[in-house]
Amino acid sequence: MSYQHILINQEPDTKIAVVALNRPQALNALNFELMTELTAAFRAFAKDDSVSAVVLTGNDKAFAAGADIKEMATATSAEMLTKGYLEMWDELQAFKKPIVAAVSGYCLGGGAELVMVCDIIIASETAKFGQPEINIGVIPGAGGTQRLTRAVGKVKAMELILTGRQFTAEEALSMGLINKIVPVASYLDEAKKLATEIASKPPIAVRLAKEAILRAASTNLHDDVEFERRLFALLFATEDMREGMNAFIEKRKPAWKGH
Ligand code: CAA
Repeated sequence: MSYQHILINQEPDTKIAVVALNRPQALNALNFELMTELTAAFRAFAKDDSVSAVVLTGNDKAFAAGADIKEMATATSAEMLTKGYLEMWDELQAFKKPIVAAVSGYCLGGGAELVMVCDIIIASETAKFGQPEINIGVIPGAGGTQRLTRAVGKVKAMELILTGRQFTAEEALSMGLINKIVPVASYLDEAKKLATEIASKPPIAVRLAKEAILRAASTNLHDDVEFERRLFALLFATEDMREGMNAFIEKRKPAWKGH
């Protein structure tokens, strides 16, 4: 299958596949088509015995700057509830083989939420994380309120999601959100090395270990993510959401009205 918005490289002799998000002109904003391609690629890896682990990356400047605001700005609550867009993060969460994220540059909103469905996260020194949705009149809608809170605890998640501020790889490491920081020249190699090591282990034991660890971190997660998704869709009925997204597109400050 050929893809327009992602690049796939299956490395010989390693049993790993490397997937790079590839919409550099939009800082890898995750539009519907890109997410559809990504889930299709992972569906194929699930069935492919030559792939035992996957590395998910972007480019040096951006892992992904979030969901595509230009695509979402005119969406309705009904569309957000029925289109199946946000459910694609759940589909990746259900992937049974390990995913190592290799993150550099912007990793925001839906991009950070994508990284949080990965299993191990290697970041470059330039990585910038954040859940900036509040600044465009919405909330994280692809699991961020649930997975960030489970990863870093309530008070940190509250501060980060309510201010929407960006934070560095150092801060992410100190909160336990990521595994390791390496120079920008080597984050992808480091992730590949780790994925290759994991891919050399017995595949069924790896798969069941992943499943068991996720169980520890995910009591009620499915229902709680569904709850968040409904609140996210509800915000598409507010004027502040239109204002927030249009202000981003028009490169100006939003004027909040509270309705
Ligand atoms: N959606 C669509 N386009 C985006 C985008 C996004 N999330 N992020 C960046 N782009 C586009 C910009 O519009 C711009 O396009 P043009 O050249 O056509 O104007 C291009 O990418 C480069 O971006 P900037 O000029 O803004 O680059 P910058 O270096 O000045 O700023 C940035 C970088 C701080 C990451 C800024 O682009 C930004 O704030 N992006 C939006 C981040 C965001 O709010 N993400 C959350 C989205 S909502 C979400 O993800 C919901 C969810 O939970 C699923």
